[in-house]
Amino acid sequence: MAFDNRFIDELKMNINIVDVVGKEVSLKKSGSNHKGLCPFHSEKTPSFMVNEEKQIFNCFGCGEKGDVIRFVQRFYNLSFMDAVDKLCEEYGIKRPDYSGGKRIDYDKYYEINAKAARFFYKNLTGGPNVGYSYLKGRGLTDHTIASFGLGYAPDSWNALTNHLRKERISDADMVKLGLASEGKKGIYDKFRDRVMFPIFSTNGKVIGFGGRAIGDVKPKYLNSPESEIFLKKNNLYALNFTKKDISERDHVIMVEGYMDVISLFQSGVRNVAASLGTALTDNQAKLISRYTKNVVLSYDSDNAGIKAALRGISIMKGQNLNVKVLTVEDGKDPDEFVKKHGREAFERLVKKAVPGTEFRLNALKVGYSFDNDTDVLDYINRVVPVLRDLNPVEQNIYIKKLSDEFGLSESSITAEVHTGGGVQSARPKTASTTANNIRKRDTVSDDRDIRLEMSLLILAVNNTRYLKCFEDDSIVFRSGRSRNILAAMNQLCDDAENGIHSIDLNKIFALLDPDDEEYFRKFTKIIKIGPDDEAFYHECRTAYKINALKDKRLELLQRISVSEKMGSSKETAELGMQLVEINNLIKETMEDNNA
Ligand code: CTP
Ligand code: MN
Repeated sequence: MAFDNRFIDELKMNINIVDVVGKEVSLKKSGSNHKGLCPFHSEKTPSFMVNEEKQIFNCFGCGEKGDVIRFVQRFYNLSFMDAVDKLCEEYGIKRPDYSGGKRIDYDKYYEINAKAARFFYKNLTGGPNVGYSYLKGRGLTDHTIASFGLGYAPDSWNALTNHLRKERISDADMVKLGLASEGKKGIYDKFRDRVMFPIFSTNGKVIGFGGRAIGDVKPKYLNSPESEIFLKKNNLYALNFTKKDISERDHVIMVEGYMDVISLFQSGVRNVAASLGTALTDNQAKLISRYTKNVVLSYDSDNAGIKAALRGISIMKGQNLNVKVLTVEDGKDPDEFVKKHGREAFERLVKKAVPGTEFRLNALKVGYSFDNDTDVLDYINRVVPVLRDLNPVEQNIYIKKLSDEFGLSESSITAEVHTGGGVQSARPKTASTTANNIRKRDTVSDDRDIRLEMSLLILAVNNTRYLKCFEDDSIVFRSGRSRNILAAMNQLCDDAENGIHSIDLNKIFALLDPDDEEYFRKFTKIIKIGPDDEAFYHECRTAYKINALKDKRLELLQRISVSEKMGSSKETAELGMQLVEINNLIKETMEDNNA
């Protein structure tokens, strides 16, 4: 399956990685590199570099790196071979001959699947059988059955395999496509006594199957395994049938199940598609964006459905799609709803779908009673990162809404969104902990501070000049333990006649009381300072300062909320000013650190 290395080298020589990456990522020249926002993780300041000379890319944020083929593989979700093919095609490079049948013969596989689909279809429609009765029982017309090419896999261990053998399909190919499984005595039919849903690629090739059990058999759905021609993350069910309607109506309704799609389609709602039993992927969102920028997610209203919708929202937004969420009020899923209430009622639900952001904000409310300030503050704190993802116009709308809803001033929420929170900080963990800052304030901030204090102290053990830096930078430790350790260190330095560069740890331990000693010992073992102690100091110092500022900000927010409720507008305004100042300080400190 491998290409000749010489050919790969030649290929890479003929293609410029900057050109390839530049098609998908906007790059700016910076020194010997080209810089841009990493396409493999979400970031706001560029840490993705493309080096023209070396013909490699490298992201300092997520660690993704490699050559041009690796980039194409990762970006378009392709195998190595397919990435090479894509590049060859785009740059008009002639591939070497794949002698010995090494090249994947996609058409052959599509044809085998098509044969299987025809076989299933004939079984379903050729005479009475449980599959047909089942689908009729679920309200499908013959026309719908034919349109979607539905079928029936008989209750037999070898019906399909025998049929395909007669068509001279090899056992190996059947296994490869997941139509057959391998047993001790040879292969046997994988799908037995199931209603079959052929899954088509966007251009209409049969790439796999979903098979639904007729009774209460588990699993309810059995799907083809992933294969060279069936990659779930790159395909959507029924898109080949519905893409035209999706374009024309300029929105798509995304549902969870095959039956949801078919049922809606039959009722006249034809701009639908479904993911293939897995969570939505970036590639699926990209696929949709070829036909429309407007997505309506219609998932179950249970917990799993809400989770899927939240994930779907962020995937869709990630591809700059507008996303709304439709809630089916009556009946479990769209299939049941539309059967019961009809097309128009469903279209009314589509009209009533709520914007993704609103859905997110509502989902975050779960678990709060909002009968106390802490609930409100906690909630706002969780909402801020969501708001930050929006464009300014949307931001204003939601800030207004929240302000009305919770009786907070718009300016205090705005200040939070624009300057506050560690979400944009490059420092680890802050993003995920911001939301919890208020709730778990004491433990989180204390733990984090202690670690930073210990790091600073250990830095000074190795290089006593940092003791002076602490003074110069007005670092005052907030924990008593750290202050005790610092005092011991200062004492040892003062006692040393000619000054010392580093301090013997054992001497420090000797001066500490047993509790502090044990504590400090533990940290000396776990904290590692890299080779660049200057940078390490800088980082710890900044993080430490920011923590202190954030504590202050939290206190201010709490005071603002109280003074707003008391109706004391002068005080609120005064506190608001302080908040803006603190937020600016936080921002400056962060920027200093990133500079
Ligand atoms: N699914 C799957 N494997 C399962 C269950 C579900 O792959 N064991 C996928 C299928 O694509 C299915 C979708 O998840 O269509 C939604 O699941 P579910 O809501 O359970 O199925 P419905 O489509 O509603 O099936 P039905 O109405 O036939 O019960
Ligand atoms: Mn269903």
